[in-house]
Amino acid sequence: MIIAANFKMHLTPRKLATFAATLRESLDSRLQILLFPNTACLANLPQCPVRWGAQNAYPAQNGAFSGEIGAEVLESLAIQTLLVGHSERRALGESQDFCAQKCRFYAELGFTLVYCIGEPHDVRARGRESVRAFLDAQLQDIPLDYPNLIIAYEPIWAIGTQAAGMEQIEQTHADIRALCAERGATPPLLYGGSVKPNNARAILSLSNVNGVLVGSAALVVSDFVQIMQAGLQAL
Ligand code: 13P
Repeated sequence: MIIAANFKMHLTPRKLATFAATLRESLDSRLQILLFPNTACLANLPQCPVRWGAQNAYPAQNGAFSGEIGAEVLESLAIQTLLVGHSERRALGESQDFCAQKCRFYAELGFTLVYCIGEPHDVRARGRESVRAFLDAQLQDIPLDYPNLIIAYEPIWAIGTQAAGMEQIEQTHADIRALCAERGATPPLLYGGSVKPNNARAILSLSNVNGVLVGSAALVVSDFVQIMQAGLQAL
């Protein structure tokens, strides 16, 4: 069971250290914890035996790409995990081709990749087939059979609002599972989008849900720990 947190622009290094000090007390070997703090924190991570990852990276070792971070710096910080394709980065202009290029580049280096997919509200409003076709396109050229690839399904309309319905999550995860199987792959599937302590157990009990990617509820360590406990109950 994978419990991941994307802190986005939140949590200063000092706040992250406080978070980690509490989290350390609640770790359980049955859970795989992945944490994505903001880039500034990566250079001075607190002692906490979880998998730390970057929210973004450029597909090059180094070079003239202002504002980006590359593989050379990440590896020098022992970071080997990367979030790719988050809707907030796609909204900034990252194309499907660019997301695929990032996945391929970092897969070559052996990174663990959490690749995010998810449809906007208007696609969801057109029904299950439209959603399936949209997600299918987001799986194009992604190395789905790469053993260190995790897929996070995050419907854009459910981020920072209200989680998708249980039936929607179950159906969509079944569709993603089938789309991956058509390509000979069975990556773990996470759900993300308003996961909270009060819905985590139900979500984590659904078939084809292998974990969650948590945003705002991860900012309060006691809430994140409750989500971890929900994960243990759902095992
Ligand atoms: P929320 O949990 O705040 O909806 O954010 C989800 C998310 O975008 C995680 O990547």
